[in-house]
Amino acid sequence: MKAPAQHLPAGSAPVFRVLCVVGARPNFMKIAPIMAALQALQPKVDVKLLHTGQHYDVAMNEQYFTALGIPSPDINLEVGSGSHAAQTAEVMVRFEPVLDELKPTAVLVVGDVNSTIACALVAVKKGTPVIHVEAGLRSFDRAMPEEINRVLTDQISDLLFTTEESGRDNLLREGVAGERIRFVGNVMIDTLRGNLERAVPAAAIAAQAGRPAFLNGHATHEGYALLTLHRPSNVDTPEILRALLEAVARIGARTPVFFPVHPRTRANIAKFGLDALLDDPHILPLPPMGYLEMLGMMKDARVVLTDSGGVQEETTALGVPCITLRNNTERPITVDEGTNTVAGQDPARILAIYEELMQGGGKAGRIPPFWDGKAAVRIADTLAAWMQNGCRMEAA
Ligand code: UD1
Repeated sequence: MKAPAQHLPAGSAPVFRVLCVVGARPNFMKIAPIMAALQALQPKVDVKLLHTGQHYDVAMNEQYFTALGIPSPDINLEVGSGSHAAQTAEVMVRFEPVLDELKPTAVLVVGDVNSTIACALVAVKKGTPVIHVEAGLRSFDRAMPEEINRVLTDQISDLLFTTEESGRDNLLREGVAGERIRFVGNVMIDTLRGNLERAVPAAAIAAQAGRPAFLNGHATHEGYALLTLHRPSNVDTPEILRALLEAVARIGARTPVFFPVHPRTRANIAKFGLDALLDDPHILPLPPMGYLEMLGMMKDARVVLTDSGGVQEETTALGVPCITLRNNTERPITVDEGTNTVAGQDPARILAIYEELMQGGGKAGRIPPFWDGKAAVRIADTLAAWMQNGCRMEAA
């Protein structure tokens, strides 16, 4: 039965409530445009934001809320770090009473972090419909915790929004009904487009870090590189982390490397006795950077080396060459249409791809369909119609 929201007299309380969930850094740039689009809906929808507290440092968390104008969370579960089991379980236990109290029409989760699956699982077992933004991405690598989170979240979601067309194929293959899937594009690119003009230039970041001359000197005309590294498969094994950092040092000799260091990576570099590898005039280790700083460093880089999923997409949107330090990607469109090359972890292969790129300029790429800055509005409109329809989708 259709809910009568459109017939409400002016000033009535909203009929529908959407509870949006975030937990870790990559969630924040996705939720920002979704919150804005949901809050702009007419008739009004009651939108609440819940933070699980999976990421909690100012650098990993608060500075994103400030820079992106995300409203302060209505609820913070403050779970903090822990093993996968402990963290996931803690989110579930603390989320359940909130759900009982708020009784939302639906719970909206984004991405593939532990908070995503934890909240989705609690909601579905309580009969609350689940909406998954960034559904259907698959690396086909079950050793990645995020792959487990993706597959399971998609199985229990009622409405699945995809960023690229491969997502639909993956979901259909796994038995998800086609009418639940909507291809809307990439909300992270909404945020990127909306903030490009505010991006902080790389030279200012070097100066702030006390290395104003970092981009000067013999290497400057070659441009600079940006490195991010945080996947357990890259940073939890001493030999792999050492080999990667040694390859980066060779890249730095030609293109100085900005390296914002994730807390997991920072801790492992110290634990494995690798600090000396960062003590290099052509490498600039930085604390985890804010969104506008990352965007500034990314947009003018000659090349970006990364194991982050989001950065693969952002570099494709910016037309900047990206070398992915993983054996696979769940975002194949960044390779097929974008600027991404999947290099793996072998230093010789990474350096060969880098050399080729420095000579040829890298893949030109093109912007994938619907990465146009309007994904969140598509999501909000679809969601409103879906709730009006009793949380069911008309066949597309
Ligand atoms: C998590 C996500 C990963 C995402 C990444 C982005 C999962 C399974 N993984 O990985 O998909 O790409 O976030 O950062 O959800 N720490 C701090 N401060 C913080 C948060 C964490 O110091 O604010 C440290 C803690 O020592 C913690 C470690 O970083 O143990 C790892 O944090 P965790 O949230 O478990 O996983 P990430 O590696 O950040």
